[in-house]
Amino acid sequence: MAVEAAEVLRIAPALAERPLVHPAWVRISHWINAAAVVMMIMSGWQIYNASPLFGWGFLFPPGVTLGGWLAGALLWHFAAMWLFVVNGLVYVMLGFATGRFRKKLVPIHVGEAVSDVRAALTGRLTHDDLAVYNAVQRLLYVGVILAGVLVVLSGIAIWKPVQMQTLTALFGGYDAARYVHFFAMAVIAGFVVIHVVMAFVVPKSLRAMITGR
Ligand code: HEM
Repeated sequence: MAVEAAEVLRIAPALAERPLVHPAWVRISHWINAAAVVMMIMSGWQIYNASPLFGWGFLFPPGVTLGGWLAGALLWHFAAMWLFVVNGLVYVMLGFATGRFRKKLVPIHVGEAVSDVRAALTGRLTHDDLAVYNAVQRLLYVGVILAGVLVVLSGIAIWKPVQMQTLTALFGGYDAARYVHFFAMAVIAGFVVIHVVMAFVVPKSLRAMITGR
């Protein structure tokens, strides 16, 4: 017993001194974003089913959609949109203001990214130091942030095509903006699948996104 107590006393300072990998603002905005994205994608799929872009009938099985019918899905989509946009703006502004984006997400060297993708595909990519993102992570995180910006802008273009006609025109018109919105969603959905698998492959990264350390 005395030995166990001594051991706890010995490792306690080390645990407390574990470096903070993700500050609270990153963790809070990350999990709000995850919830908002899931709601936006599921309600978006219901909206899509009401007026499909591709001629394959029901692309998304009703069981994976949110809202029950078109009007219900639109309400979910717009409610989650405010959460996604406000939370995203806070994250992006703090990302720039605190220097986190500069320190963690850049630079991205093409050569490194290619060799890291190769290593990832052959199961040799390591993530020992949680404080440093590898080139694949940097690429994916910057990519998904840009896809998030694109999904919001194309969403505004199809939500308010009269008031925001310049933006809608920049996308090449209402119909083109719908395709952009769809493919930006597909990029985000693809990212989420890979990202969640990786989080469970490296559980300590998941723990750090919850506890910070
Ligand atoms: C339930 C779903 C999710 C889980 C389990 C999850 C898990 C994680 C984990 C563990 C990390 C830290 C990675 C590391 O330290 O190596 C992380 C970071 C990140 N995740 Fe997620 N995530 C989820 C959903 C999302 C979604 C939906 C998005 C965006 C569409 C997203 C975007 C990001 C970004 C941009 C980072 C880097 C944040 C930064 O360092 O500033 N995640 N996520």
